[in-house]
Amino acid sequence: MNVNEAIIRRRAIRNFASTPIPDDVLQEILEAARWAPSGGNGQNCCYGVVTDETKKKELAQAAGDQMWIASAPVVIALCSQISYNTADLQEDDFSLTVNRLRFGERLLRHLEICEDRRGVGLLWANSCPLIPGTHMTLAAASFGLDTCWVGYLDVARASEILNLPGDYACLYLLPIGYAAAEPETRTSRIPLAELTFYNTWEAKR
Ligand SMILES: Cc1cc2nc3c(=O)[nH]c(=O)nc-3n(C[C@H](O)[C@H](O)[C@H](O)COP(=O)(O)O)c2cc1C
Repeated sequence: MNVNEAIIRRRAIRNFASTPIPDDVLQEILEAARWAPSGGNGQNCCYGVVTDETKKKELAQAAGDQMWIASAPVVIALCSQISYNTADLQEDDFSLTVNRLRFGERLLRHLEICEDRRGVGLLWANSCPLIPGTHMTLAAASFGLDTCWVGYLDVARASEILNLPGDYACLYLLPIGYAAAEPETRTSRIPLAELTFYNTWEAKR
């Protein structure tokens, strides 16, 4: 299956069969995450492989009681380091230059003086697991496996369940397994013509 076929095959599944995931397949899915690009090649994500039934149920509870999560044979905890703070950086730090350009000095200063240091760290790290997680969903799809992103999550509670150190947080869950049943319908998408523009916005339909 090529990448485009995996993209089309992937869809959110919320009811998994108990069929285990072969270990070599799971390793390939994790390997796909390892090869994800990251800003400045920061690579500040790590991946908890949760198979323990009690832990899976606790994580499902932390995800607003989305108990279907625990039906997956494996729940990947997509974690990131959350200690990034622009105030700690040297003036010539490349990430500081990039973030100034993207968000402006004013917001950076606000974030530096915000008392909720953990909250600021979470905001900076929030997007970090998205590319590794996407690699995992597509690799899983290519092996006939199914996944569902879970972002509706009490991040503090999930991080506690996994005994993460204080400078890490579990930002998303990714249950992986074989679908117990095919979904009746696929989610729709906005037509491409409405999503694209060529060269400048005025040309957008
Ligand atoms: C970042 C992110 C967080 C999500 N969080 C949840 C969630 O907590 N629970 C859930 O059931 N689905 C969640 N989803 C799945 C979306 O509802 C789903 O991907 C979307 O409806 C499109 O459907 P599809 O994945 O089948 O194409 C999440 C998706 C993304 C990308």
